[in-house]
Order: sequence, then C-alpha cells, then structure tokens
Amino acid sequence: MIVYFNNDFKLINEVSLSPFDRGFLFADGVYESIRTYNRKLFRYEDHLERLKRSLKETRIDFDNFNSIKNIIYDIIKKNNIEKESLVYLQITRGSVQQRTHSFPMEKTTPTLFISVKEFKEDNEEQSKGVKVILQEDVRWLRCDIKSTSLLPVVLANQKASEEDAAEAILVRDGMITEGTHTNFFAVKDETVFTAPKSRLILDGITRKVVLEFCEKFKMDFKEEFIDKDDLKNFTEFFITSTTKELTPVTMIDYWQINNGEPGKITKALQSVFKKVTEDHY
Ligand SMILES: Cc1ncc(COP(=O)(O)O)c(C=O)c1O
Repeated sequence: MIVYFNNDFKLINEVSLSPFDRGFLFADGVYESIRTYNRKLFRYEDHLERLKRSLKETRIDFDNFNSIKNIIYDIIKKNNIEKESLVYLQITRGSVQQRTHSFPMEKTTPTLFISVKEFKEDNEEQSKGVKVILQEDVRWLRCDIKSTSLLPVVLANQKASEEDAAEAILVRDGMITEGTHTNFFAVKDETVFTAPKSRLILDGITRKVVLEFCEKFKMDFKEEFIDKDDLKNFTEFFITSTTKELTPVTMIDYWQINNGEPGKITKALQSVFKKVTEDHY
C-alpha cells in the first residue's frame, strides 16, 4: 500500500513516526474521511472546509491545502484502485522534543498522513436496514471538531458490535445527539428530524446533503433534539455518513420498528441520494 506521509509518497512499511508525535501522545490531531463516486471525490470542498475549521478550532497551524486534492488522486492512481476509494486524511500537531500538555515552545511541523483503500458499499445494510443500540454520550463538549481523540466512540461502537448492532446512538441528558460515526434522523408525521448543528454533534456532510434534499423537494424538516423517551412516537429512523450513506434503522435496542421494514420517507431520500451520486462526475 502506498500512502502519503509528510512530503512524500511512501510504502506503508517505510513510514516511521516519532513516539513524540503529539498525535500519538495526546490524539492531538484532526481528520477527514472522503469517498469517491464515479472515481471523483464527493463534496470535496465541504470536507476541506470542515478540515480547515477543525484545524482552526484546535489551533493546529497547517495551511498547505492547495496540493491535497491532486495528492489524493495520485495515491489512488499509485494504488491502482479502479473502483471507488475511501480516503483517510489526518493532520496532527506534529512531533515534539518533550511531552508537555501545553503546545511546545518550538514551532512544530504538523504531520500529514493520507491513505486510500478500495471502498465497497454495504448494499444489504442499505436495503434491509440495521439494528442500533442506545448508549450514553460521554464525549467532550466539542463534538463539532473532527478530532482523532475518539476513545468514547470506540468503546460505544465496540459495545454495538458485541450486541450485533451496526451503530451506537448516543444520548446526552436524555436527548439523542448522533451516532458514533453517523448522524441520526427520525421521521414523524412526514417531518424529518435531526439534532441541530451545535457543539454536541459533528456537522456531517451527508447530513447536510440530506437537508438540502428536504429543502429542494419541499419536505418538512426540523433541526431539533429528540428526547429518548419520545422515540416511540416516531415511525422511521435512519443514519447518515460518508461510508453508510443513508442507512435505514429497523431496530433500536429490542424495539423492532415497522416490522423491520425501512420507512417510505427514508427510501425516498435514499433514492434521491443514489441518483445524485450516480450522476456525480
Ligand atoms: C461523530 C460523527 N457524526 C457524524 C458523522 C458523519 O459525517 P459525514 O457525513 O461527514 O461522514 C461522522 C463521520 O465520521 C462522525 O464521526
């Protein structure tokens, strides 16, 4: 596998990272996952804008963005990926001389790492839907930053896997925020609900695309937190992300929704999404 590490394309086993890299020591870094449709990066500008924002909020001084898009296409080519690709890009504050919590006195050079792999959609999940479980949201209060500091969601997602669920949906103070790596949507009386943009959720690109569809097709939607105890008053649920696209949720803990059938608004939005991505060149 060929990756991009700092200023070079390298074989993965030729990459060496200092244990004093602050990404390794403190998870002091940010990241993005981007995928292609028809071999073209989808919503690249949105991902770039979110990356810039994450860097600004974490005060990581990186501004070498101009060549990133070409570097990504080069890595895809160098790895001979002929179908769709999933790109992982991470920037840490860089390597230091000594471990101190505050930023080092010396100026650090941020560490840039980009890898790609072939991406295969899970069509079964998308057509049949998935089970999710509810878990307490124990993350920090800056979930709007796409930080590599992910231990709370690693543990919540592991619990989901152990319970044969595809995702853990997080609940903070009785309110649903989002999934460990997805945004959460629910439908009631033909109105689509999702948590509002705030410090408690990541402003997902797929979430944004779905809300654009709602606007375009004049579907009612509300950006409001859903009370966990109110879930049973909703009739459809789905999760969104770059890798899961729009995936119907057919079971929450032990509650099977709508006899395990994906809902009609979910399916309508899925088909618009499919059309847009199929036509993406
Ligand atoms: C916590 C969280 N919420 C939502 C999302 C979905 O974001 P996107 O649609 O940009 O992939 C992600 C993606 O990784 C995430 O980590």
